[in-house]
Amino acid sequence: MCGIIGYCGNKAAKPVLLDGLKRLEYRGYDSAGLAVADSNKLAVIRAVGKVCDLEKKGIARPLPGHYGIAHTRWATHGRPSEENAHPHCDCQEKIAIVHNGIIENYLDLKEELLAKKHVFKSETDSEVVAHLIEEYYSGDLEMAVLKTVQRLEGTFGIAAIHADNDSQVVIVKRGSPIIIGVGENEYFAASDANALLPYTQKIISLNDDEMAVLHAAGYHIKNLNNEFLQKEIEICENRDALADKKGFEHFMLKEIFEQPESIENAFRGRLIESEGVSKLGGLEPVKERLKSLKKIVIVSCGTSYYAGLLGRYIFESLSELHVEVEVASEFRYRKLKIDKNTAVLALSQSGETADTLAAIREAKRKGALILGIVNVVGSAIAQITDAGVYNHAGPEFGVASTKIYTSQLVILTLMALLIGRYQGISYAEGSEVIQAIKKLPRQVKKILTDMEHIKKIALDYAQYKDFLFIGRLFNYPTAMEGALKLKEISYIHAEGYPAGEMKHGPISLIDEQFPTVAIVSRDCTFEKMLSNIQEIKARSGRVLAVASQGSSRIGDICDDVIWVPETLPILQPVLNIIPLQLFAYFIARHKGCDIDKPRNLAKSVTVE
Ligand code: AGP
Ligand code: GLU
Repeated sequence: MCGIIGYCGNKAAKPVLLDGLKRLEYRGYDSAGLAVADSNKLAVIRAVGKVCDLEKKGIARPLPGHYGIAHTRWATHGRPSEENAHPHCDCQEKIAIVHNGIIENYLDLKEELLAKKHVFKSETDSEVVAHLIEEYYSGDLEMAVLKTVQRLEGTFGIAAIHADNDSQVVIVKRGSPIIIGVGENEYFAASDANALLPYTQKIISLNDDEMAVLHAAGYHIKNLNNEFLQKEIEICENRDALADKKGFEHFMLKEIFEQPESIENAFRGRLIESEGVSKLGGLEPVKERLKSLKKIVIVSCGTSYYAGLLGRYIFESLSELHVEVEVASEFRYRKLKIDKNTAVLALSQSGETADTLAAIREAKRKGALILGIVNVVGSAIAQITDAGVYNHAGPEFGVASTKIYTSQLVILTLMALLIGRYQGISYAEGSEVIQAIKKLPRQVKKILTDMEHIKKIALDYAQYKDFLFIGRLFNYPTAMEGALKLKEISYIHAEGYPAGEMKHGPISLIDEQFPTVAIVSRDCTFEKMLSNIQEIKARSGRVLAVASQGSSRIGDICDDVIWVPETLPILQPVLNIIPLQLFAYFIARHKGCDIDKPRNLAKSVTVE
């Protein structure tokens, strides 16, 4: 979601800013803009749509300035339009700011500023920041920003420049990520280290309520009490080399095909076969607390939430823990009983999701042990947790999560196995799980070899406008995730439902134009699933089944079947989701959708 880049140095700023914005495109946005300062004047360009639209608008303007800021916006306040795109300026058009996040008290501030005759040009919450800085500015941008942020409520990553403060970019952070990039006689600001490759791998992360001033000759960092801070420079991995589709048409397809490897990376070095248990180095520091754990509350959003729902079944199968799963954005409003025997487990690909961050901050306040399963190393969630496990799945660029979801399921199983073995599951049960985990990469490969068949079925179903996805037990969250994949990238209406609930409402939707995708495994729910499918067939509904090989009766009653290999019920979701990812992918491709960057969506959702 929303990206920021800032530059000051000896190069012309415009090309660096545009290049940085392109590197942030994968996060999702609806408009873009940049401001470059030169000879005490600001030049601002904004455009609705893609960064290439902004680039086209900027081509005719040489903009020789050496410092500037740029932004990709994901609209929260005010529709996506040129006026609402960032940067926003003050009345004199001397100050430009870009902002990620939400200024919650912007209406009060705007009223105050309007009374002082400030003229607003956009509908955004962000514009108040530029006018407040103008109010406080008396020759020192840094002090004006400091005074401004003391008035702000909400979340923000802000970068600001002033046409008269030569080569100075001031940045400040609360809740939305912003980092400093350290180059040779040039300095950068960015909401994500990706924007800075290939310029520098040296970065400095800011914590909340810290600010920095970058200028051509160096930088300094302060807290909001105006005290200087010393921070270490970190070297971030060069993800640039990984940002390559490797011959695949889309990142999403590449990432679907990376799953045999990402699943293997999730368990590599983490299985102790001789003891029927897992070994998770990241949880070692809290081992004693895990032994006395009574309850676990999983918090996450979107696809990570569906992984969490499966986590409940996995923990319940392998341990004695009481498990709750909560959508992170709802968690903080609940009156959950949390004590020292409770762990709150955050699942997050990006490690930046604002809702999940807010939830674990709340849980921390209440004394819970905070655990995490996170893919992005060093991300905000990874930093807040007391202990955790990294996915090591490599970057996921497609906005629709695929390989991280299956990786999360494997790590949840490893975690449940670790805790379960403290709590009483036997060596034999543990070993059975380990053997099944080890087979997963090969089984996923097998499903992927069936791609042409899945594609053919997908194209046959691409005409429909609505879909129902149903499953029971482990296949119920799979139904929800399958439906989410389809709606995210193909914009087709799809609902994921527990199959048993169908007769309590959604069955009224079924007719020949409303197909159902039924996920069926040979577990204790098999017979009941067959009955639910019969109920749909009796109402002329078309049924596509994703079913475990060998369940021959499925073939007789369903219109189409995609067969998947069989594994233990707790791991079956890892396999069952793969055809559904491909199904969504091929329908979206057929419809000509922007698969890696679906409309309105963002890769990292950094607002609540
Ligand atoms: C996944 O396909 C979605 N783009 C979205 O639901 C995502 O899973 C959600 O925003 C959570 O993200 P996170 O895992 O980075 O916290
Ligand atoms: N809330 C701001 C806006 O709507 C910033 C959105 C963003 O983070 O991109 O303009």
